[in-house]
Amino acid sequence: MAKLPIITLPDPLLRKASDRVERVDDELRRLMDDMLETMYAAPGVGLAAVQVGVPRRLVVLDTSGEDEERRPLILVNPEIVSLGSEMRVHEEGCLSIPDVRIEIERPASLTVRFLDREGKPQELAAEGLLATAIQHEVDHLNGKLIIDFLSRLKRDIIVRKFKKQAKAEAAM
Ligand code: NI
Repeated sequence: MAKLPIITLPDPLLRKASDRVERVDDELRRLMDDMLETMYAAPGVGLAAVQVGVPRRLVVLDTSGEDEERRPLILVNPEIVSLGSEMRVHEEGCLSIPDVRIEIERPASLTVRFLDREGKPQELAAEGLLATAIQHEVDHLNGKLIIDFLSRLKRDIIVRKFKKQAKAEAAM
């Protein structure tokens, strides 16, 4: 397994909609393992393939607590097929937008269909943090980021800050 570099704002790839995975093979499973290692090292509770520069519809998640056993979850081509009516507010961060946290309200429960590590179709009912994280990661696959929940003014301030930072790093 290898830790992969995570792309950050304002990388334009983060705005690209990811392509469907056509085949779950060993090459894809290697990417899943590398993404899990990258996510655990970060540390984060979720990571989309596009965040490591691969715009394909694959995400990895683990919302287990610090003292709990790891519960890695791999979703290939995830489709949220239903959302609950109750809402949940969570302060979300994103490995591609370091040091920014945004309070976001999303449905508190959902059902998602996906292919697992072996390419087998699965359906999962999720609630709480896992439901939040799945919606966050599926947003990534559609080029959507947590800053899109902000007003245009607030969003522009954050984007400008990251552009400036990227420029300064490129100049070093
Ligand atoms: Ni994110």
